[in-house]
Amino acid sequence: MSTNPFAGSLDRILRPQPTAIVIFGATGDLTARKLVPALANLAQDNYLPSSFVVVGVARREVPEEEFRAGLRKALNEFSRRPISDEVWADFSERLYYEPVRFDTVEDFRKLKARLAGLDQKYGQRFNYLYYLATAPEYFSPIATHLNAAGLVEPFGKSERMTSIVVEKPFGHDLTSAQALNIELRKNFAEDQIYRIDHYLGKETVQNILVFRFANGIFEPLWNHKYIDHIQITVAESIGVGGRAGYFDQAGIMRDIVQNHLLQMLALLCIEPPINLQADSIRDEKVKVLKSIRRLSHDMVSDSVVRAQYTRGLVDGKDALGYLEEKGVPATSTTDTYVALKLFIDNWRWAGVPIYVRAGKRLPKRITEITIFFRNAPDAIFRGQESCDIDPNVLAIQVQPRESITLKMNSKPPGPRMRVQPVEMEFSYGNSFGIPSPEAYERLLLDAMRGDATLFTRDDEIEESWDLLEPVFQRWTEDRMYPVHQYESGTWGPKAAAQLLKAQSHRWRRM
Ligand code: BG6
Repeated sequence: MSTNPFAGSLDRILRPQPTAIVIFGATGDLTARKLVPALANLAQDNYLPSSFVVVGVARREVPEEEFRAGLRKALNEFSRRPISDEVWADFSERLYYEPVRFDTVEDFRKLKARLAGLDQKYGQRFNYLYYLATAPEYFSPIATHLNAAGLVEPFGKSERMTSIVVEKPFGHDLTSAQALNIELRKNFAEDQIYRIDHYLGKETVQNILVFRFANGIFEPLWNHKYIDHIQITVAESIGVGGRAGYFDQAGIMRDIVQNHLLQMLALLCIEPPINLQADSIRDEKVKVLKSIRRLSHDMVSDSVVRAQYTRGLVDGKDALGYLEEKGVPATSTTDTYVALKLFIDNWRWAGVPIYVRAGKRLPKRITEITIFFRNAPDAIFRGQESCDIDPNVLAIQVQPRESITLKMNSKPPGPRMRVQPVEMEFSYGNSFGIPSPEAYERLLLDAMRGDATLFTRDDEIEESWDLLEPVFQRWTEDRMYPVHQYESGTWGPKAAAQLLKAQSHRWRRM
């Protein structure tokens, strides 16, 4: 079992400066389910700054004690592990609440005074990290009012670091994403803006870079000469639950593909960056996103499958069809499943199909990247019994089982010459023996430290919207564009299998 490479050197490498984290949308779901559990786990691991405060901000008046008690309850429910009473006692004393109406600069001035009071109380000059966990229509007004109230310091020119973390959805299409970028940059420098994509905080996604560039044996094979095709699947067994209001406007293409899935694809396919600096990696990701072949209006139907789930059985339980879910209009054409065939038109990836799919109400929750290598010439085994030679397949399972497996062919013991596929596996559980932190833990820590490597830059976001623009246009203009159906608890519609058949490929899981 290996030891944690960060142990012992944490103070030198990781610990951020004293920070006040100001969470907008503090009475919402994300704060209770993800943000506060992540911060409390960081506190328990002693990764937080030597001095910190969390100021919850929302429109409602909430007594501070009630705010704290609500979060203790949320922690019990949503934290990945129990938070000790001792850690909670210290942590909760540092939790504050301030009611702020997002459309009134006056309230932001009050917030400024409150923050100044906390500086005084703790004898600190806190860095300010604003976390926007609100509905997206408030992103611009909050950024504008923070600036107008004097809560944004010029980047690199002040002793106090001020930065802003922006949750998804980052825009609804290219135009709205560009508009949001413009609004944010009027008030913050690009270096102060952290656009979150929580998949980048997952250990297994970060490991893509280490796996590719710290192992000499794979990189020479990582191109069209040796790779036949790639599949990326983001499958969820849950349906839309109580989120129909949001989801029916978004669909899975906007909810998962535009961000999480394309980010994984980009990391998987980048050229070696010149170093590990945030912009070096982001420069390379942008090149990949730019190189993905844009679909013409006509090409969309050959490359994109859209579908919705119908009634079925998931995890042994009856599941409603999408159109029967509460809050979904009966005529909705929103995508709960999409599959796409993409190509990266560059030297490395010319002609390699990259099939991606994302769906709700599939048989299980699994996120997996699978690389299919070209077949070995099988001439010498041809004609032998049981000698069908499968391609080598490298599967990076992002979740739930964090692992990498390599499928190879082997000879089973015995007197006859036979070929049988076997698997070689690396799993986090077996190799490291420690549970992986939640993505939000790493991302919050990085934002406090001023490290933007695992956050998306303005141009990355715009390129990924640009790529999907023709799809949305076609769906809007062509009312007859098929919305295929798939039964809940299955791997998606038949049309998604057809998408691969043209090249004699098939989904690894179906
Ligand atoms: C979110 C989407 O970004 O990611 C959700 O809005 C989705 O619809 C979630 O369920 C999946 O995240 P994870 O980490 O559970 O795979």
